Amino acid sequence: MRAPLIAGNWKMNGSLELVESFAETLSHTELPAGVELALMVPFPYLSVARARLPKAMAIGAQTLSDKSDGAYTGEVSGSMLSDLGMQMVLVGHSERRTLFGEDDAAVLARVQAALSAGLKPVLCLGETLEERDAEQTEAVVLGQLEAVMDALMPEQRRTLVLAYEPVWAIGTGRTATPEQAQQVHAAIRARLAQYDAGLAESMQILYGGSMKPDNAAELLAQADIDGGLIGGASLKVDDFLAICQSAG
Ligand code: G3P
Repeated sequence: MRAPLIAGNWKMNGSLELVESFAETLSHTELPAGVELALMVPFPYLSVARARLPKAMAIGAQTLSDKSDGAYTGEVSGSMLSDLGMQMVLVGHSERRTLFGEDDAAVLARVQAALSAGLKPVLCLGETLEERDAEQTEAVVLGQLEAVMDALMPEQRRTLVLAYEPVWAIGTGRTATPEQAQQVHAAIRARLAQYDAGLAESMQILYGGSMKPDNAAELLAQADIDGGLIGGASLKVDDFLAICQSAG
């Protein structure tokens, strides 16, 4: 059975004050049993988030370099993230793909860098509105999946978490319907089964794209939606906790 996972992605938002307000609220909140929690914060806040937030909450980064070390000014390596006690890292978020030119090869290199550093990669997949309108959703999403999974060893595949994030639903308030999301999640799980039935059964597949307290329960009730990757709503601790409660 797959445990539900609710992961927040602050993107380039947040502050020391927000970390503290999360710490204060979470210190006197009973977290929902059986729900895995994670928070991906900007690099400057990684250490303080790890120090101040409950140990039951995984802390992660939102990207990493595909290089292990060297003359790459401004970059952050997987080993540095592990050094700070990080457990997870987003890879291939649509904003990395569209704004920073990360193609499938660059995403694969970052997944491999994360695995080399002992980090759990959260591999983000998703189509644009144009691709959906052209009925290319599954071709695009499964292509992104295969670009990584085809290159990994079986035991490496099992360490990943997947996040389906339709680009047209990110930050727009236009959430995929539960049926739309379930259809893509089921297609992803069916493709995973072609690698390994156990992989398909165990892989957590998160939904991301305007998941909010008022729509989380219906999305999370879908058979192949195992959690959420939450942007805007993760910046408000009460909203984030409400979504976590919906997963419980
Ligand atoms: O990584 C999660 C993010 O892309 C979703 O953002 O604001 O639509 O929840 P949002």
